[in-house]
Amino acid sequence: MGAVTLIAMHVVLTIAEIVVFGLAAGSLAIVVSDRSLRRIVPWVWTGLVGALGLFAAAIGFLAATSRSALSVFAAGIGLVIVAAFLRARPGFWRKRGLPPGSMSLISSLKALAHRDFYANRANRHGPIFKMAQYHHRVICVVGLERGHRLLRDRAASIAASPLPFTQEIAGGFLRYMDAETHRVYAPLFRRALAKSVVAAAAPTTRAAADRELQRLAADSSAGAVAPGPFLERIVFESFMRVLFGMEIGTESYDRFASAYQALADQPLSSPLGEAARAAVTSLRAMLLEQSERLRTNSGPLCTLSELGRADPSMPDDVCLDNIVFVLRLSTANVESLLHWLLDTVGRHPAWVGPMRDELATDRDGGADLFDRVIAETLRLGQSEYLFRTITEDFEFEGFRFPRGWQMRVCVWESHRDASTFTEPAQFCPERFGERDFSRSEYSPFGWGQHACNGVALTSMICRAVLEGLVSGFEVEVTGGEPAEHGPRHWNHWRPNAALRLRLAAR
Ligand code: HEM
Repeated sequence: MGAVTLIAMHVVLTIAEIVVFGLAAGSLAIVVSDRSLRRIVPWVWTGLVGALGLFAAAIGFLAATSRSALSVFAAGIGLVIVAAFLRARPGFWRKRGLPPGSMSLISSLKALAHRDFYANRANRHGPIFKMAQYHHRVICVVGLERGHRLLRDRAASIAASPLPFTQEIAGGFLRYMDAETHRVYAPLFRRALAKSVVAAAAPTTRAAADRELQRLAADSSAGAVAPGPFLERIVFESFMRVLFGMEIGTESYDRFASAYQALADQPLSSPLGEAARAAVTSLRAMLLEQSERLRTNSGPLCTLSELGRADPSMPDDVCLDNIVFVLRLSTANVESLLHWLLDTVGRHPAWVGPMRDELATDRDGGADLFDRVIAETLRLGQSEYLFRTITEDFEFEGFRFPRGWQMRVCVWESHRDASTFTEPAQFCPERFGERDFSRSEYSPFGWGQHACNGVALTSMICRAVLEGLVSGFEVEVTGGEPAEHGPRHWNHWRPNAALRLRLAAR
């Protein structure tokens, strides 16, 4: 081979490498320059900047040390680019009967940072589309009627998408239980979390709300404060009373709260550590003791006592573990909704006056403005999705749903259907007074056999806080926008961590 040919090959190779590295770095740079990604999921953004830095360092190192290794590296990156390009085409896997939609990592990251991602994809591809959530393959379904029909008609080919902690729970966590076990325990828990049980804990919850709001007002006299710790205490105290009949200031409450801390500190996305596992064992023992106390002393009406009344052989290990994990998971749901409610009050202060008027005129009414404000906040803020795993291939509305894929019924996007909710992006609590919405139009608490059994409890706590807030204080809320998201696709959107509250007694 002549010298000229060698030089030409060398030049072509170098140009090809520059193109490959340029394309890879350019794609990463485009993602990194997404301001929403940086603001909303800063950890993911930092990771990507790190990856970009490492990539540049690897190229520099190889260029300085081994020309041939650099070429091999470029070839590898080139293959990755080609694969990524193919997967990013909406028509990818369409021949296999799958719905349209990009499987690219870039789209996956956009879903974390852009709240309208799923709605935009549905506008582009139709109500059934596919996407990647990191390495998971997911089919998204928009439209509650469609989603519910799918869950009902293909129930035999769909299973729960459990988080790892469920393996640690006797019988599994209610939400992820097998159908046979669920048939036994779901009715028990529905009864044990019924309205009457929850109502018995309302005075404790109101007292906790009043006390914490007073504290918050005192603390915020020097400047607005983050409401999180105050809301946490209200919610925890209320749950302790509803679930276990335990009142703050008692020995059993203090013992339980202190043992519970290790479980509270355990992230539920990873398997339980030793400390959390030990905590569950001692919490279980304490609850058995409490259950006996409630039985012999005819203690206050609560979930634990109601489980025993429904079936004298209860609570067994399945009940005890589930009740502990209901505390661990569902307190977070309610705290989050309370943050959304504060954010709502901050952005729509005009509704505070009407809420006060309603308190003055109709304290015992049925569904009133408070219920409507909570319902509208759930619609716009918190209700997001139902996740399931596809256990065997099936077809639905002309598309193949392959075994092993995840399925996401997009609730938040369905709650913005303009044919059901006029001006869907607007906060308009009155829409819930003007007409009733069916379950296939509005269902923030899920649907079917796994629908939420904490609706009464959620409503009671939210009302206690909202009523205490507007009746007792002038309220100033700042900083909840833009909403934030965690690094996982199943994390929920929440008001910005900069949300601050300032209260002054009226
Ligand atoms: C803002 C508050 C809440 C929201 C938005 C919410 C939402 C939901 C949703 C959407 C589901 C269905 C999940 C699915 O089908 O995959 C669900 C189930 C469930 N929720 Fe809630 N929830 C809330 C509060 C609570 C509270 C306070 C409790 C406990 C007392 C609770 C306990 C449960 C349980 C045990 C299930 C599973 C029920 C079963 O499978 O039988 N939730 N929730």
